[in-house]
Amino acid sequence: MDMQLKETVLNAFRDKYGSDEGAKCFFAPGRVNLIGEHTDYNGGHVFPCALTLGTYCAARKRDDSLIRLYSVNFPDEGVLEDDIRKLVPLSDKTWASYVKGVVWAFEERGMMLPSGFDFVVAGDLPAGAGLSSSASLEVAAGAMIRELYGFDVSNVDLALIGQRAENEYCGMSCGIMDQFASAMGKKDSAVFLDTGTLEYEYVPLPMDGKKLIISNTNKKHSLVDSAYNDRRRECEEALSALKEEKDIKALCDLSPEEFSRYQEAIKDPVAKKRARHAVTEDDRTVKAVSVLKAGDLGAFGKLMNGSHESLKNDYEVSCDELDLLAEEAQKIPGVLGSRMTGGGFGGCTVSLVEDDKVELFKETLLAKYTEKFEHECSFYVVSAGNGPEEI
Ligand code: GLA
Repeated sequence: MDMQLKETVLNAFRDKYGSDEGAKCFFAPGRVNLIGEHTDYNGGHVFPCALTLGTYCAARKRDDSLIRLYSVNFPDEGVLEDDIRKLVPLSDKTWASYVKGVVWAFEERGMMLPSGFDFVVAGDLPAGAGLSSSASLEVAAGAMIRELYGFDVSNVDLALIGQRAENEYCGMSCGIMDQFASAMGKKDSAVFLDTGTLEYEYVPLPMDGKKLIISNTNKKHSLVDSAYNDRRRECEEALSALKEEKDIKALCDLSPEEFSRYQEAIKDPVAKKRARHAVTEDDRTVKAVSVLKAGDLGAFGKLMNGSHESLKNDYEVSCDELDLLAEEAQKIPGVLGSRMTGGGFGGCTVSLVEDDKVELFKETLLAKYTEKFEHECSFYVVSAGNGPEEI
């Protein structure tokens, strides 16, 4: 956690709203997914961890129904204003829609805010890099509303409220992974979540001698504009074809063997590839957690590599920048595994690297990357952090 950012938020709060008297501050983390990509809307498993990077906000209740929202990261947008009695889903394309969406989602669950609030936010997650800056904003806003108005909701509820805000208020049909990872993060552990049942387990990350490195392509992804919603549709098409053959609720109910047996039911070759990714990725994720528990990080890394290949070839959500970073990383001695992480089409890779190879990793990838692309990539050595808290 970066207490300097708390100060930044409070300074901006004083600047915009006169004083910070009575303002409370909150933090919620971003996340990186270690394995289990594009399985969270197919009833499968995911294995993300919360980061120590995230979103910081300060808020204070008002006497009227206005909300005033300011982001230190988007100063040109100024203080955005709205009325909590007049929130309209899909009406706002600014960053503020994530906060308004959370207010709206609380109210949809019957928790009416008796008044509005003044709000300032800042963060140290690169925006649009696939590290869930939006989910962390939703979870921070949820934790703030819970505390300010005294609503009795759990952290799992905060995740569900955030997802609902994103799906219905912001129009992005994401699964539950990002909000769950942010709301339920635990220091030095990753969260093994069954998205079909929301059962979860914390798995310690034994990082002795290893580092998790996030490599950012610095190519912004845009999930709403990109093919995310198409992928969901293709998976639904594959599922309805498979349901003719076998009684399943979601693609990830099938084992890879069952999928091989029934796959001919899917006539469309594209939908078939998408389904194959979902089924094999779920299988890799379950295996990855089991080898990790057994202390076999080498096997874990190989499953990460397999995940990248499947995302590239079957799910087709990678891009040249991600492929270069993942594939060149995999060739470096001391790199146990490397894959794209998050929705895809840009954003970041995640790699598991021996401590003494971190510098070699950065130097090699930066050189290869700038040889091919006109901008640089950047690196973050990260560790798993806790969920939301008042700070
Ligand atoms: C985005 C979505 C998540 C998940 C990932 C892909 O991050 O928000 O719900 O689907 O893509 O694994």
